[in-house]
Amino acid sequence: MYQEISNLIKKEAKRQQEKITLIASENYASQNVRGVLSSVLANKYSEGEPSKRYYQGNEIIDEIENLTNKRALKVFGLKEKDWHVNCKAVSASIANLAVITGLLEPGQKILSMNLTDGGHLSHGWKLPSGKTIALSAKIFTVSYYGVEKNTEIFDYSKILKLAKKYKPNLIISGGTAYAREIDYKKMSAITHKVGAYYLADVAHEAGLIAGKVLNSPFPYADVVTMSTQKTLRGPRGAIIICKDELKEKIDRAIFPALQGGPFNNVIAAIGVCLKETESQEFKKYAKQTLKNAKILASELKKYGFRIVSGGTDKHLLLIDLRNLPTDKKNINGHETAVLLDQAGIVCNKNTVPHETGSPFKPSGIRLGTPACTTRGMKEQEMKQIAKWIKQVLLEKRDTVTVLKEVKQLTKKFKISL
Ligand SMILES: Cc1ncc(COP(=O)(O)O)c(C=O)c1O
Repeated sequence: MYQEISNLIKKEAKRQQEKITLIASENYASQNVRGVLSSVLANKYSEGEPSKRYYQGNEIIDEIENLTNKRALKVFGLKEKDWHVNCKAVSASIANLAVITGLLEPGQKILSMNLTDGGHLSHGWKLPSGKTIALSAKIFTVSYYGVEKNTEIFDYSKILKLAKKYKPNLIISGGTAYAREIDYKKMSAITHKVGAYYLADVAHEAGLIAGKVLNSPFPYADVVTMSTQKTLRGPRGAIIICKDELKEKIDRAIFPALQGGPFNNVIAAIGVCLKETESQEFKKYAKQTLKNAKILASELKKYGFRIVSGGTDKHLLLIDLRNLPTDKKNINGHETAVLLDQAGIVCNKNTVPHETGSPFKPSGIRLGTPACTTRGMKEQEMKQIAKWIKQVLLEKRDTVTVLKEVKQLTKKFKISL
């Protein structure tokens, strides 16, 4: 039984080692983080809050959860009297659902970012036909703001106008494929003008905010949610940080409303990854992740690819595949991602602003640099990756030959798996 799974894990480790991960939401967590995940902490039930549990035997678990919460406050420069941390949500999607259901009454209104412009499903997505996809869209009324057609960037004065007209109870910022920095101060001013709560979802950016290379949503947002496995480089999980006066609404929305016993092994592993963000190595990684994304974008542009919004401020970029400078113009995001994977470059298909395709055959791909930066790749390797992408997509170079070259490169950038 164990052997079969163990062999598959070895195969997956080989894949992760040999190929180049450009999936913007993935990373390589440290051996310490992964070690804590497989610890005895997974054996314990601890429903409730530290010192207010429903089961006995939680004195050590309380210490761990308190320590992780303290570390989260320290990393984001927050005071315990003003802010409250909840590290129990099993993922950022659940964290978002908890915040929405905790703060709003059924039927109240949410204003969030359009999915095809880079927003996230968990912010209340429904199809243009009106068919609801996200659970939050079934319970609440949702409307969307988006990017400008010419710049593919937000115009905050238009978001304000929309908010004044729509009068939402909650405004959400944050996206899964928005390559530009979000002005949290302006978003906060908009929400407060219309008397709404402000949720800043920094699922993608958390590690880069911790590494102080991107702006922080604190103190502007009422609540901040984040994934812990993306740029933060921890276990799969989430952190919610809210203003102290909202803590009961948020805690109760997680337990007992949405979840049972929290994953104590994950909470401890989050504590480890938060401590790791204080190291010099993490700060260098955060800086280099941005440098790598910028150089990847500029090299691809040189080859004639159209980068959505003209570039990136972050760790990710989007290529619009419509009208590629080659005779093979009609390749969609799905076919492109499959082709690049065959060549050893792993990315994902993605919608682009003002999408003309479908979610399964969108017009773009998303590329991200956190994982390859963690394994030590820098500007030179980004130039080489851009060249391979050009060769595969524009020059129809054989993917088997490119894969061989990718394997030669990745041998020099070993990861501890
Ligand atoms: C902006 C945003 N929020 C939430 C999520 C959900 O994260 P998770 O996979 O941790 O549920 C994502 C995932 O990519 C995201 O991009």
